Amino acid sequence: MSDKRPIGLLDSGVGGLTVVEEVIKKLPHEDIIFIGDEAHMPYGVRPASEIIKYTREMVEFLISKNVKAIIYACNTATARALPTLEKEFDVPMFGVIKSGAQSAVADTNTDDIGVIATESTVNSGTYPATIAKVDDQIKVHSIAAQHFVKIVESNASDTDASKADIAETLAPLKDTDIDTLILGCTHFPMLEKQIHDFMGDQVKLVDPGIETTNVTKKYLAEKGMLTDNEQSGKVELNTTANLDSFKSLALDWLGYDISEINLIHIGD
Ligand code: DGL
Repeated sequence: MSDKRPIGLLDSGVGGLTVVEEVIKKLPHEDIIFIGDEAHMPYGVRPASEIIKYTREMVEFLISKNVKAIIYACNTATARALPTLEKEFDVPMFGVIKSGAQSAVADTNTDDIGVIATESTVNSGTYPATIAKVDDQIKVHSIAAQHFVKIVESNASDTDASKADIAETLAPLKDTDIDTLILGCTHFPMLEKQIHDFMGDQVKLVDPGIETTNVTKKYLAEKGMLTDNEQSGKVELNTTANLDSFKSLALDWLGYDISEINLIHIGD
């Protein structure tokens, strides 16, 4: 059995490309369709009702492209929209939070885990609740680092100002016993080097997109839904605004032969 339909991924912006990269690596023959909702980015400061509305529009777009599964390459959409939307649509959907929480619990020895995420993800309490379901003895230290999204979107990761900002925001974590830090926003793996430089070798950084891709691959394999194509998959990227900056970040990050990058309009 095989299924040649593409895998869909969604995010508010370029952060989801960190998950696209992982899918290309682990499922190189699959076609991929990604949508980033740059027109409504950042999601992390929006009320839940808007995050659900905009995420629903991305899901409808991906379904119109005949995808066989959707990866929420966005923690904020996973926390706020996935529980509602998985009841509305039949297509299999995979969020990043459960996988990220499980990886971190497996990695920690001190039983202290840090989470950095958007304001909305931190306020939702989804990471601590999900971690507690796996192991309720673990202490979770959360920090809303919403402004890191802007650093990534404006391609300013390596500036002195950004490094100082990262140090100031993460300083409170230095007073804890964390040995594991969840990059709880898909934009943040683009700052992995800067975050690692500040936190040091003793803190393991967890990118939830990695385990989410493993979980998706396993599901598709078990259901006989992997493609039997032998050539490399096509990668189609779509953005709802900011085509030029999206394109340059996408090509920089993926360094990959992208089949198409489109500016699209969705919703009303
Ligand atoms: N990349 C997103 C996340 O994983 C959201 C960033 C934002 O739009 O605020 O949470």
